[in-house]
Amino acid sequence: MPAREVHVHLAPSLVDPSQLRGADAVVIDVLRATTTIVHALAAGCVAVRPCLEVDEVRTLAATHPRRRALLAGERDGKPIQDFDLGNSPREFTVKKCKGKTLLFTTTNGTQAIARALEADRILIAGFVNFSAVCEQLCHGARPVHIVCAGYLGTPAIEDTLLAGAFVEFFCDEMDVRLNDSARLAWDCFENHGRILLGALQVSRSGEHLTELGYAADIPLAAAVDKFALVPEVRRDPLRIEVASAGIVKGRWAK
Ligand code: MLT
Repeated sequence: MPAREVHVHLAPSLVDPSQLRGADAVVIDVLRATTTIVHALAAGCVAVRPCLEVDEVRTLAATHPRRRALLAGERDGKPIQDFDLGNSPREFTVKKCKGKTLLFTTTNGTQAIARALEADRILIAGFVNFSAVCEQLCHGARPVHIVCAGYLGTPAIEDTLLAGAFVEFFCDEMDVRLNDSARLAWDCFENHGRILLGALQVSRSGEHLTELGYAADIPLAAAVDKFALVPEVRRDPLRIEVASAGIVKGRWAK
């Protein structure tokens, strides 16, 4: 069996979308978009519609029955005027989410999803569903591309750490061929994976969230395996739904 290719891209601009054809992609935005997507689906949202622009959300909202849709997201970490929810995972309660479609736009996370769209299969990951995503990836042979949202076009330690945790998982399970960024992410995880919460708190995004009053979101994003649920991007229309949910083997190595 040939070695499985595992590539990490530390920011969306570093991935050439055509590289992803025929591959599995995993999109990561730990603080906070992908963490929030997992929370929203766990709380009963039926689908998440990722949008690049605020106006795209408003246009899409006009095509949905108002009682069935929630407009959510952020710009510069702050809630968007007239939207129902921001981007704090704490807002996505069962009471608000059950049966709703989330129309969602964020600064970096939904851009990273857009960048991954040429992959055959696209999964959404946070620390909160780490082992469930591992379970989905461990049986295939396709190349894996881990696309990190980063922070305003630059690498972010929280996404790099999670990418490194996936690299470690693959290295433990099978023969792999890694790109250089995968080795960097792995090193980062080796060095900082045991102090996950502290690493997230001192990250640029962590500091920004703390300044904005969202410090309580950081431990939520660092809660490894809180959910056994894997969101997957589906097409026509573009949306994210739960691909699998259930008990999974714990894969967290730290
Ligand atoms: C993003 O997509 O840029 C982030 O999720 C920002 C945030 O923390 O709300």
